Amino acid sequence: MHKTKDTSSTTAARVEALLARMSLAEKVGQLNQIGGAEWSPGPKPEDIIRQGGAGSVLWLNDTRRFNVLQKVAIEESPSGIPLLFALDVIHGYRTIFPVPLAMAASWDPAVAELAQSVAAKEARAAGIHWTFGPMIDIARDARWGRIMEGAGEDPFLGAAMAAAQVRGFQGTDPTDPERVLACAKHFAGYGAADGGRDYDPVFLSEAQLRNVIFPPFEAAVKAGVGTFMSAYMDLNNVPASGNRWLLHDILRGEWNFEGFVVSDAMAVGSLVTQGFARDRRDAALRAFDAGLSMDMASNTYLEHLAALVSEGALSLEALDAMVRPILTIKVRMGLFEHPYAEEGLLERVVALPEHQVAARLAAQRSMVLLRNEGGLLPLSKDLQNVAVIGPVADSMEATEGSWMVFHHQPAAVTVLQGIRAKLPGARVTYAPGPEIRRVSRSPFEDLESKPLEPPQTPEAAEAAFQTAVATARDADLVIMVLGEKADMSGEFASRSTLDLPGRQEELLRTIAALGKPVVLVLLNGRPVSSVWAAEHIPAILEAWEPGSQGGAAVADILFGDVNPGGKLPVCVPRSGGHAPLYYARTLTHNPEGNPMYRWDSPTTPLYPFGFGLSYTTFACSNLELSESQIKVGASVAVSVEVTNTGKVAGDEVVQLYIHQRWGSDSRPVRELKGFERVTLQPGETRKLTFHLGPAELGYWSTNAGRWVQDAAAFDVWAGGDSQATLHAEFEVIA
Ligand code: NOJ
Repeated sequence: MHKTKDTSSTTAARVEALLARMSLAEKVGQLNQIGGAEWSPGPKPEDIIRQGGAGSVLWLNDTRRFNVLQKVAIEESPSGIPLLFALDVIHGYRTIFPVPLAMAASWDPAVAELAQSVAAKEARAAGIHWTFGPMIDIARDARWGRIMEGAGEDPFLGAAMAAAQVRGFQGTDPTDPERVLACAKHFAGYGAADGGRDYDPVFLSEAQLRNVIFPPFEAAVKAGVGTFMSAYMDLNNVPASGNRWLLHDILRGEWNFEGFVVSDAMAVGSLVTQGFARDRRDAALRAFDAGLSMDMASNTYLEHLAALVSEGALSLEALDAMVRPILTIKVRMGLFEHPYAEEGLLERVVALPEHQVAARLAAQRSMVLLRNEGGLLPLSKDLQNVAVIGPVADSMEATEGSWMVFHHQPAAVTVLQGIRAKLPGARVTYAPGPEIRRVSRSPFEDLESKPLEPPQTPEAAEAAFQTAVATARDADLVIMVLGEKADMSGEFASRSTLDLPGRQEELLRTIAALGKPVVLVLLNGRPVSSVWAAEHIPAILEAWEPGSQGGAAVADILFGDVNPGGKLPVCVPRSGGHAPLYYARTLTHNPEGNPMYRWDSPTTPLYPFGFGLSYTTFACSNLELSESQIKVGASVAVSVEVTNTGKVAGDEVVQLYIHQRWGSDSRPVRELKGFERVTLQPGETRKLTFHLGPAELGYWSTNAGRWVQDAAAFDVWAGGDSQATLHAEFEVIA
């Protein structure tokens, strides 16, 4: 495939020429996205496309079918405008990467960019032009199932991960045939659903939106993201998909976003269901007026927009303005020159060895060592008799995690396989223990008409439990692999507890009581919390849902070929009842008070934000500021030295936090404002420098109703997690 050069003036001229020859119906068609799955609502795709009634197709993952539908669009529709094929490619297309929450735990934007560039290359080879990613919702409630899709609780880390993923998906050249168009979603506030219940209403102040929720979205705009997706839920009583303040005032007005906005699935039609629009006509009108460009699968625009224009409720100029960015993107991507996918290309691309290498690297870098008492890890490769126990130890689905592309066949290296590969001569036994399963069936299983597997009977579960205990009893060392099945996190997968599902903790306790050394590997999409494990199991590795090479990466870490360096992108609460829990809260009137005065259990996190251990140790020292006093608008340089004080090479993520002591508003006890992941040899010291200026020190003030930078005193901390104690201070003066 060759690249076409397109200057913006020729693009604009081509778009105007297209608009001039398109009928009203065709213009509306460009704003309509249809489902390509068997179960998608509406008429047959061919019939709509032939009339120029669709600008994009989603929920289809079939290269041949893409070409069939594209041919109808090009050769049979009135203006021959190519379709954009869209799909959710969230953490890999065929080569699966760690889920985005895990990628954020790498604190390594470069590896997130690499992962999404591989995902883009594979997806594009299959014929997909546009992914519904990155998902960049800040989430502070681990009960919310979709926390696994984002970068966790922090806006600063979230913004870095958002920009990196946009770069990975889109690259720098829109005509690049190995990249896809990205979509920043879900704008905005979805991650703050009441109680972590998926789709529930969200109430956020303007200050919370601007200081916490928006930064990753604004970073995505700055990174050049082509599209946005509006969120489903009500934001302060106005559905996000009909919210002009969000889609128009903020996105286009303040951030100068020039791409287009697609709704979430059915969200335009849902404006009626949500009790906002009177009927579907009203829904189309209000979504359009709010700035929503493309209707995903609800057919509301298709049914009503043309009439709304004919009746004069909407102007033709407004319609043209909505269509223009969609055509612009199609022209810029070179779709008119290269509308078809090359059949057979995908298999060649997927076979590239560097894709599995990247998946293994990403998995290694995302894992977080939570506990390692007595240096139980790394394990010796001379072990002769090891038991691997747990319901996710040999599950490809759980290893790959939630949010697979349509019709994906799981093909991951499981943890059991990874361990067996490291110990070729040893006896490695395996028992899954009792099954774990969702409380209710996932709607995704219904969509794909998956047969209902009958649950394990209590007798069979008990037998599996006893077999697991017996298997452990026969071994010298036990590796327990516990956590969640893939369908326990993601959309439609909020949970009321963060406990290990099923009888897993009971199995862990029973096996630990055998007195053998026990290592716990966690595979999960969201934080799960076992206070008991944190106090009794000597070695715990948070492996998340690590993707195609996940089991190999776990074994690399367990046996010391790789030294873990990931850090938590979320606090792990001690209990689901403590959610939402996050480090950047404001102080109470009783800040040092015993948290037990306020609750029936300590609400401190089980593991704090930013936390993670290594097989070596690090010390930060010499925290120095270039100035002890700066003027509002000026910057201060903060330097800190980090030393590997242990005996092996390893990675530390140095984190910089600030606290503003007083001001127009109360400010969080700590806020992340800088980080860098560095690799250090034993004894090596590195000096890192961060800058704090108006961007880091300013904020949206509730009291002032605008952006402010206060004259105030600031604390600064640097270290390996959000509880770092190395401290300095400076003052900002007017
Ligand atoms: C609904 C999800 O909320 C969204 O993230 C996804 O992109 C669309 N469905 C399309 O599959």
